[in-house]
Amino acid sequence: MTGKVTKAVFPVAGMGTRFLPATKSIPKEIMTLVDRPLIQYAIDEARAAGITEFIFVTSRGKAALEDYFDHAPELESTLQRKGKTDILDMLQNTNMESGAIAYVRQYMALGLGHAVWCARRLIGDEPFAVILPDDVIAADTPCLQQMVEAHAETGGCMVAAMEVPADKASAYGVLDIKDDMGSIVGVKGMVEKPKREEAPSNLAVIGRYILTPNVLKNLNTIKEGAGGEIQLTDAIAQEIAEDRDVYGYRFRGQRYDCGSKAGYLQATVAFGLSRPELRDEFGSYLDEMASLRNAAE
Ligand code: G1P
Repeated sequence: MTGKVTKAVFPVAGMGTRFLPATKSIPKEIMTLVDRPLIQYAIDEARAAGITEFIFVTSRGKAALEDYFDHAPELESTLQRKGKTDILDMLQNTNMESGAIAYVRQYMALGLGHAVWCARRLIGDEPFAVILPDDVIAADTPCLQQMVEAHAETGGCMVAAMEVPADKASAYGVLDIKDDMGSIVGVKGMVEKPKREEAPSNLAVIGRYILTPNVLKNLNTIKEGAGGEIQLTDAIAQEIAEDRDVYGYRFRGQRYDCGSKAGYLQATVAFGLSRPELRDEFGSYLDEMASLRNAAE
């Protein structure tokens, strides 16, 4: 099934245990890379891909996310009064149209597949995207936009994919490749977090998906999978089992795993260096750090 993709689901219910104690009081999606929260990068990517309806699957303790997307009229008028028009423009660019974001709650942490299933009534009967905000992707053409363009040709389900070192594959959903056409890969199977010796390849699923509504039906019936959770990977794999097309898409761009501390720090450095106003000062500091480290070794 092809068709315009206008809705995206953002599963943001996770507890963020890897970032405790910070995540005791702030959702991890509000943590910043330089000055933009992780969720803002995900929203910007979705908007660039033509998404107009944004569905957040939240949980307890995530109220700060809703507040973040509220407009801030007092702040805006203060900036206006002080003539800080650059900051005002930047701020207003993050404003969302009223009603564009819907929030549903996942009452129990039963897995990514379950989180997406919680959004089923808002998705309805059309293809939709899923963005995992932990996976931040720096790219000239935003990743989801690349996928929407590829998906217009292929239809079916499509997942972002990236080669990972063989010893890391068991941290991901992994694709069993049917035909490798370069950026697009036909898939004949998918396994969530396989044991190292059972991984069908080292082509891993990264957190961007374009899915058919049939995947939601699969989620009605699938059983718990890896980690005792309802897995999105399993619901997509069922499409393959029933002879419907699933593709992997090797995106152009650099992915940062902001669900891990090391990945988050790497992203902070990369995004810091990509800012013209920070590049020189921050770059020299990093050079200094590197030479001190080399000298100490
Ligand atoms: C989720 C998915 C997994 C995918 C990964 C990408 O896992 O279940 O298939 O490879 O995101 O980041 P998680 O990292 O939430 O355990």
